Amino acid sequence: SGYVTLDPGFTNTASCTSAITYIDGDQGILRYRGYPIADLAEKSTFLEVSYLLIYGELPSATQLEDFTTRIQRHTLLHEDFKRFFDGFPRDAHPMPVLSAAVSALGTFYPDSTSIRDHDQVELATVRLLAKLPTIAAYAYKKSVGQPFLYPDNSLGLVENFLRMTFGFPAEPYDVDPVLAKALDLLFILHADHEQNCSTSTVRLVGSGQANLFASVSAGIHALSGPLHGGANSAVLEMLEEIKNSPDGPDTFMNKVKNREGGVRLMGFGHRVYKNYDPRAAIIKKTADDILRGLGVNDPLLDIALRLEEIALNDDYFIERKLYPNVDFYTGLIYKAMGFPTKMFTVLFALGRLPGWIAQWREMTEDKQTKIGRPRQVYIGAPERPYLGISER
Ligand code: CMC
Repeated sequence: SGYVTLDPGFTNTASCTSAITYIDGDQGILRYRGYPIADLAEKSTFLEVSYLLIYGELPSATQLEDFTTRIQRHTLLHEDFKRFFDGFPRDAHPMPVLSAAVSALGTFYPDSTSIRDHDQVELATVRLLAKLPTIAAYAYKKSVGQPFLYPDNSLGLVENFLRMTFGFPAEPYDVDPVLAKALDLLFILHADHEQNCSTSTVRLVGSGQANLFASVSAGIHALSGPLHGGANSAVLEMLEEIKNSPDGPDTFMNKVKNREGGVRLMGFGHRVYKNYDPRAAIIKKTADDILRGLGVNDPLLDIALRLEEIALNDDYFIERKLYPNVDFYTGLIYKAMGFPTKMFTVLFALGRLPGWIAQWREMTEDKQTKIGRPRQVYIGAPERPYLGISER
């Protein structure tokens, strides 16, 4: 029929069925494949969670070992691929570099760009999981003018990433287990979040039967915006700004409430969570331990705590059900780990990758999938006659 419903921002329209992630926004519930996020955060690992999201079940010991070995075998980038990074300016932001590199993987591995051949999709899956940490580390190394490190496959995924990021060639790098464990936990918390902006983008691009590399590359761009994954670096910039201004947190919050210059409290609010964000609750609980474990005493933490305290007791935020989201505290942890602000959203992308892959695969395997093609409500000019240029 010609009947169309207008729903800007898809606040009330489901785009698909999915068996991957369950969220109850009123109760603050998040589950991957039925497992509560708090249990996974406490007991699982990022690789195990990746397997769970993509294949639907927790792996057996043999399955996990096999999965880990397959990923380790693909951590290297093609030697020619290293030159790819030279094309960017020295201070290039690592997010577009990450997205461009994932897009370019399709040119290096045209054998894994089929969407119908199961083995090829498997290969693309493993290649992406294995190579994204290497690409992210190289994007970082490039931005600080340091030499690239080859992956060391005796290390786990997160340890390897930390070494490639912070290590130097011909110098031993002892991975700090507190740091590795903390980053692994953060990756678990970011691993999937059903039909958010970037995941919907991955599905929409994939619905036209574009390959996994192309779809994930588009997802990375979608994630980069400050209302989505870019919020984690925006939070830190906000905290720095407050620290460096004579005004302080209370004045800043008045600006937010009066909407001066459209300023928002970054790291607050969520489309679905209207009670609390269970990821933020876990992060807040661990942030203190992690910061203490790393021996960090950051004045920005005090500012963040003050902002939170004001918000949780203020009618503006209470009426609108605005609570800290996943991005509110992560930036402080990433900073304590030694990452520059512009790497924060890259870390979000590393964590979200298994979710994007799982959702893309679920979509391509779903017989009901159709090309994504929203309708619109036209509000432009009615039909009018074309006028020659001299008559305009
Ligand atoms: N600071 C101040 N006011 C806010 C904020 C905020 N962070 N978030 C929402 N509001 C107000 C908004 O102005 C609106 O007020 P009113 O009804 O009077 O016009 C009301 O709350 C509802 O906001 P909305 O923009 O209609 O809500 P939404 O569901 O479209 O947006 C959001 C959700 C996350 C984009 C938004 O809350 C926001 O911009 N937050 C700051 C950015 C951020 O932290 N993003 C990370 C999201 S979680 C992880 C991720 O997805 O990456």
